[in-house]
Amino acid sequence: MTPSDLDALLAARHSCRAFRPDPVPRTVIEGIVSTARRAPSWCNAQPWQLTVTSGAETDRFRAALQQEANDETPDPDLDWPTRYSGIYQERRRTCGWQLYEAVGVARGDRAASARQMMENFALFGAPHCAILSSPAELGPYGAMDCGGFVTAFTIAAQAYGVASIAQAAVASYGPLLHRHFAIPEDRLILCGISFGYAQSDHKANSFRTERAAVSDIVDWRGVA
Ligand SMILES: Cc1cc2nc3c(=O)[nH]c(=O)nc-3n(C[C@H](O)[C@H](O)[C@H](O)COP(=O)(O)O)c2cc1C
Repeated sequence: MTPSDLDALLAARHSCRAFRPDPVPRTVIEGIVSTARRAPSWCNAQPWQLTVTSGAETDRFRAALQQEANDETPDPDLDWPTRYSGIYQERRRTCGWQLYEAVGVARGDRAASARQMMENFALFGAPHCAILSSPAELGPYGAMDCGGFVTAFTIAAQAYGVASIAQAAVASYGPLLHRHFAIPEDRLILCGISFGYAQSDHKANSFRTERAAVSDIVDWRGVA
């Protein structure tokens, strides 16, 4: 694989927000996880554990999550960011507006934006969800390692033609997830990754997010 092959693979991946219902074969899911497990981690702790749903189990989880989102206030294991300011707030708004424009949610239409937000809890119609957790005792470094695993998982999925989306929203209801999947309390539930085959012609999948330039990212020191 050349650097440009890898760049093309990463450029082709995007967060999918409308899936077809047909399942991904278990051998393919195993292939994705097998590739993702090559992600580096501090001390090679490999803190990631996944609970992967399919078929009726995905539907049962989807229904429970939607119910919880209607009835309860969010209670994630990992605290949400306290605020997004400056450029981070700008980027957050931009990708939000890109989605709303794509699906036809007008600015100020709170009911329509709330409906689109609730699609998170329907797992965007995905046939599978992977719940990612890390040992609480590894703290932010376990979460950091798991972030690398999320990236590796989504890129590996793309290589298999499988669409995906990491979802912090899925981890909003920590108590439900621990209860529903019997995930021990000494593990932090970090996010879900919904995955399956994309509904490519769906409006929610019609836009692509932007990236900052290399010059905005790197502070060069002594590099010619
Ligand atoms: C850890 C993580 C959590 C995310 N949580 C959500 C989420 O809850 N809902 C959502 O619609 N997108 C979520 N996203 C997707 C981001 O919005 C998306 O990655 C970003 O806008 C860049 O777009 P792209 O993935 O299409 O390149 C999440 C992404 C990551 C990495």
